[in-house]
Amino acid sequence: MAGSFFNKISMAILLGALIALLAGFIAKKVVHPTMLTENVYKIEGAEAAPAAGGGEPAAPAKPDPVSPLLASASAENGAKLTKVCQACHTFDKGGAAKVGPNLWGIIGNKQGHMEGFAYSDAIKKLGGTWDYEKLNEFLASPKTYAPGTKMTFAGFKSVKDRADVIAYLRTQADSPAPLPQ
Ligand code: HEC
Repeated sequence: MAGSFFNKISMAILLGALIALLAGFIAKKVVHPTMLTENVYKIEGAEAAPAAGGGEPAAPAKPDPVSPLLASASAENGAKLTKVCQACHTFDKGGAAKVGPNLWGIIGNKQGHMEGFAYSDAIKKLGGTWDYEKLNEFLASPKTYAPGTKMTFAGFKSVKDRADVIAYLRTQADSPAPLPQ
């Protein structure tokens, strides 16, 4: 009979739904999901998560300051280290732009200082002057300091290297900027 045929189908559907519900219920009871309270894989150097209850999101770690090292930094060693920059930069007075702008007198100069150079928006919108610590941050990791920069240089990890390079940059100027006190 047609009636009982449809009854069988609806019974089957109901039963299926019931089994699905039950299965879900049992699974929850049995498995007991527990949320991790800590990262299983520790990431070296990563900041600890802020304590529950909020606080500000951890700021990206700033590189160590170069200012205390500059007085005793080696411009000579800095000159050697800038070999890697020379693929893209000239440092002499009136030098031409290459992939990057000329860097004569960069300390104390405008960020994006070279007239006519096609800087990225990342540099254009900085709008400040290159002091020692800004250069320090930029040279530690250009893309962290100026996300989107065209300068594809990974950065110097060592604060001593950065101090030496900045000490060299300081000599490449009409009159070297005063050292930080
Ligand atoms: C692969 C090429 C490349 C290398 C290597 C490179 N730079 Fe650059 N640099 C650039 C480019 C391109 C820009 C312009 C960035 C922009 O517009 O985003 C730039 C910008 C700069 C600026 C900002 C200049 C201004 O007028 O504001 C400084 C300072 C700088 N570089 C220093 C260095 C130093 C020091 C090194 C070596 C440690 C170095 N760069 C290595 C390509 C390079």
